[in-house]
Amino acid sequence: MDLMTFIRRLPKAELHIHIEGSLEPEMMFDLARRNGVALPYASVEAARAAYAFEDLQSFLDLYYAGAGALLHGQDFYELAMAYFRRAHEDGVVHAELFFDPQTHTARGVAFETVLDGLEQAATEAKAQLGVSSRLILCFLRHLSEADAFATLEHARPHLHRIHAVGLDSSELGHPPAEFERVFACCRDLGLRLVAHAGEEGPPEYVREALDRLGIERVDHGVRAMEDPVLVDKLVRERVPLTVCPLSNVRLRVFPDLARHNLKRMLARGLCVTVNSDDPAYFGGYIAQNFLEIALALNLDRSDLVTLARNSLQASFTTRAEQAPWLAQLEAVAEA
Ligand code: HPA
Ligand code: ZN
Repeated sequence: MDLMTFIRRLPKAELHIHIEGSLEPEMMFDLARRNGVALPYASVEAARAAYAFEDLQSFLDLYYAGAGALLHGQDFYELAMAYFRRAHEDGVVHAELFFDPQTHTARGVAFETVLDGLEQAATEAKAQLGVSSRLILCFLRHLSEADAFATLEHARPHLHRIHAVGLDSSELGHPPAEFERVFACCRDLGLRLVAHAGEEGPPEYVREALDRLGIERVDHGVRAMEDPVLVDKLVRERVPLTVCPLSNVRLRVFPDLARHNLKRMLARGLCVTVNSDDPAYFGGYIAQNFLEIALALNLDRSDLVTLARNSLQASFTTRAEQAPWLAQLEAVAEA
């Protein structure tokens, strides 16, 4: 069996996918035309050509501009449905989707419009594809804590439809502790907690996200490897890290995949998972991330099985939900 076939057959969970980051240029142009929204590109080709990023911020500028094409519930539904179909082809059995409500409410799109569209897709993905999912509301860290609290108020009538909260956007200069109170409030409301930390930011941000926000998973977290004591803690407490190899190279966190630290993270005993982050912008969905990092770092098939197993166990699903996926995973591993 060739490597890509093997990767696709592994049942896996995707735990780090920004649904707005799955907006392919073709759909962006279709939606922009349908909605009468102007885009900063003349064509699909020009959009793709503009995806040459220098750092996280240069990506975010285009990512937020692209999200401007999304206006109606139907748009969010189509976006998420396209993602679920693509993820299903890659062997994703469960996905935990980040969404950025502030990007939309700031443009006059109602919180409910976003949530209704995403939820309709999630229901259909479960029924038609057998892919289960959860929604993770992300607060934008370049905006204020007051803005995050206002977003939580929008979410309050819908808390049964949202599983967790996260923290994303520009990391440098926006330490997690700025959001300590809003995360404490979310925890009291029964929401699970994750945050981006240690992508561009220093290991201290990872520590702060763990100790002051009380997060259960670290999104990215690759820079945690600079702090051996922190790594010991992450290993001891089995805190999962949602690593995104192609994203890391496109945003120049590493100069190339051969110099990515994922293999060292695995060797240290960290609970590493592989994810796509913003697949429409970074050149590949989850299976492509598995394939390229496996080839660049010479990972063997048992490493890929470990990465897939970690993703299922690190998800917010119950053990009962995980059991059939884990059994299927072991069957593929042994075949
Ligand atoms: N980091 C921070 N914010 C984001 C990212 C990311 O990789 N993708 C979308 N928003
Ligand atoms: Zn991300």
